Order: sequence, then structure tokens, then C-alpha cells
Amino acid sequence: MLIKTNQSPFLRRAAQNFRLSVLVITLGLVVAVTLLSSHHAVERPVTERGHTHASETLGFAKFPKPTVEIVNGTEIIWETPDDPKAVLFVAHGCGGSPRNFWVRCLTCPKCVGLPEESKIVLDALAHKYAVLVVSSTKPCWTYGQETIRVSDIIRWWLEKNGLVQVPLVGLGASSGGLYDQMDSIPSGYPPTLFVHMPKDFERAIKVDSHIKILRKAGVEVEEIKCMEIPLTTNWLAERVPGLDRKMSSKLFEAFLEKGYIDPNGYMKNDGRVTPWREVLKENNIALPFMPPVRQYIQEELNLAYGYHEMTSLQSNEIFQWLDSHIK
Ligand SMILES: *[C@@H]1O[C@H](CO)[C@@H](O)[C@H](O)[C@H]1NC(C)=O
Repeated sequence: MLIKTNQSPFLRRAAQNFRLSVLVITLGLVVAVTLLSSHHAVERPVTERGHTHASETLGFAKFPKPTVEIVNGTEIIWETPDDPKAVLFVAHGCGGSPRNFWVRCLTCPKCVGLPEESKIVLDALAHKYAVLVVSSTKPCWTYGQETIRVSDIIRWWLEKNGLVQVPLVGLGASSGGLYDQMDSIPSGYPPTLFVHMPKDFERAIKVDSHIKILRKAGVEVEEIKCMEIPLTTNWLAERVPGLDRKMSSKLFEAFLEKGYIDPNGYMKNDGRVTPWREVLKENNIALPFMPPVRQYIQEELNLAYGYHEMTSLQSNEIFQWLDSHIK
């Protein structure tokens, strides 16, 4: 029988070529944390739902020090903590870029630093994971040759940085996490964690069927469901760098008045299709262009709607799960 499942070709190839330990597929973000290594997978149900982040616990005093490199025409950005215990390879989503994962800084003046992406990197570093983000050739990942290209880059990078012996785990978001056809589950397929937003019903059905197929093949699989989040007056200020409480509160009131959110604060629609930018002019809300606060707000509104967006809210669970698989 032919098994058809959609799994990240990058993470799969990494799993085959390296000792990939864990795969996190964030759908919605799909996070497939694949242990690309031969380490034993330990059963460890995800029970905690705490939303504290390691980077918060350890403080934000740490300045990012990403390294930007062009390898055979491909931009890669990476950062390693002292004494990394594992390497986190990240496959971004359609239209994504490694530049979204670090804030603008001396070593990366073109970095955009989207809030969720940069938070995931900070949390990864705080958990002692080295982070490597590779850009796709086209806006979305293409398969075939590109999987070889990415695989070569990972191998080259691991060797250059003396990290070949360190467990390698993968996190693929959206296009970076799913959408490849797999006719059968390769032996040694790594434990996989799906982090997804069930409001996206079609993807939730797919995730569910992939979980069943992988489990049947003896692969350890877990899932984290990310639900919609109600806005409050402060919510945007708490998550968007460069937005203060006053502006956050103004936006919240204006969204209510416009009917973009319901009386309980829930977004009625995705941030991408909500004409929320209209309220800026109408309410004389001046936002800086640098950092790109509009882009940040957009991401957070998508996250609040809970349909398809990167999220760092579950990163504590994600890294606990990864930690439990790489020991
Ligand atoms: C760069 O391209 C060359 C020629 O195609 C290839 O042999 C080499 O492995 C590539 N290097 C990396 C790091 O991918």
C-alpha cells in the first residue's frame, strides 16, 4: 500500500543524511522537531502549559550576535551559544527569510526581527541550542534539488563549526514543515512534534492523519494545539517591540469600534485580511517605520486569530520536548 503523507523534505533528508534527532513541525506554524540523531527517544508527554520563556527568565540583556553568510549564493544566518547542546535547523515558511529571525543589529543591519521568530531564536539560545536558518531559493520551498542544496549547506556548516557530533534537530514552519509527498516512512524517521492551529481545519485534518500514519510506523509523535488568543488593551504592547501601552490601547479601542474584534477581544478575521491599518490614520497613530512596527502588529494579529502564523508562545513546551529527546 502506498502511504502518502506530507512531510518536510528538508527535515526528512536531514533525518536520512545526518543523525537528525527530533523534528518539530509548526503548522500554522508546523513544527516538526526531528531528532536527527541515533539518540534514544524518550516518551515524555507534554503536560506543562506554562508560557514563561527561557529568554525571559534569563533576561533580555543579551545582544544578538548573528553571523550572516552567503554560501553558494544562499543566505544563511546563524548564532551559537557557548557550549551548544544541540543544533536547531530552521526551515522558514513561504515568503520567509532568515532575516526575520534576528532583530536589526550591527552584524545584521538588514535583519527585520519579526517578534515571534526572534523570540524563538532567543529561547533556543537560552536553552543552549545553536540556530541555523537557511533561505529558500524561491519564496516557498521547492523540492528535489533544493533539498540537496540545503542538506549540503547544513553538512558544510556543521563541519566548519565543529558541531558534527552535536545532536541536530529541525523546525519547519508552514512550507518548511509540510507539503512534500512521502511514499513511505523511511526507517529511523525521527520523533516528531506537530505544533499547529486547529482553527485551520483542513490542516488539522492533515496533521491528524499524518500523526496516525507516523504512529502506525512506530514513530513517536506528539502534538500541541495553539488556540486563538483574545486581544487586551496591553497585548500588542507586550508583544510588539516599539509599540507602547498608549498606542496599544488606542489600537485596541479602535479595533473594537470598527468591529475587527468581538466584545471579548477575539479577532473576527485574520490580520492579513483585516484592514486594520485604516485606524492608524483615522486615529492619528504614528508608528515608526524602523523597526517595522506595522509588520510586527500584523504578525501578532494573525497569531491572535490563531489560524496560520509563527508562534513562540509554545516554545517552552517545544524546547522541553526537544531536551527530553536529545539526552
Ligand atoms: C557549493 O557548490 C559546489 C558546486 O556545486 C558544491 O560542490 C559544494 O558542495 C557547494 N557548497 C555548499 C556548502 O553547499
